[in-house]
Amino acid sequence: MRIAIEDLSVVLAGRAVVAGVHLVAGEGEIAGLVGPNGSGRSTVLRTVYRHLRPRAGRVLLARALAQQPDVLVLDEPTNHLDVRHQVELLALLRAQRRTTLLALHDLNAAAAVCDRLHVLQHGTIVASGAPQQVLTPALLAAVFGVRAAVVEHPLTGDALIAYDHHTPAATPNQRQQLPEAVGET
Ligand SMILES: Nc1ncnc2c1ncn2[C@@H]1O[C@H](COP(=O)(O)OP(=O)(O)OP(=O)(O)O)[C@@H](O)[C@H]1O
Ligand SMILES: [Mg+2]
Repeated sequence: MRIAIEDLSVVLAGRAVVAGVHLVAGEGEIAGLVGPNGSGRSTVLRTVYRHLRPRAGRVLLARALAQQPDVLVLDEPTNHLDVRHQVELLALLRAQRRTTLLALHDLNAAAAVCDRLHVLQHGTIVASGAPQQVLTPALLAAVFGVRAAVVEHPLTGDALIAYDHHTPAATPNQRQQLPEAVGET
């Protein structure tokens, strides 16, 4: 099964928190939904899993996997896990080869595990594509407000974001100043 969201808008308490979202997780693909706090990731995921059963939360992950669902929708499944358990959980997801839509804050984990990333800012998708295409220094500055270099991981070849922890305070740009969104496929 494939997940495709077309032109999703969600209004909460009179405010458009998600607007015109298009995103895809292809058959057997892991698609990552990344973005700053409050960008609308959980709102998008909630809309998706309302249409799916069973619902897979973090504590229910093992049960959900045991039930062999066609698709997995996971919101920050690695939250509160130490690094080894994060690596194990993400390796397990990769090994599943199920259609997966996954919200992650850890962009390096997202780069390693996701076939495709969708970047949300202020409820709008501003870039979609392969992690190496999407996670550019310009996007990291504009959307996440961080200064970073993107290099090749010396062990795996994945995109590896080297954050500049000495210069934390870049202000994320407004949407119209973002680099062009990477084309959707
Ligand atoms: N029930 C609600 N009523 C009103 N506003 C809401 C509601 N739920 C979420 N919001 C607002 O919608 C926006 C998007 O929230 P959402 O939880 O989807 O973001 P998120 O990207 O998952 O953030 P987080 O980093 O907290 O996980 C936020 O501004 C949030 O305050
Ligand atoms: Mg959330």
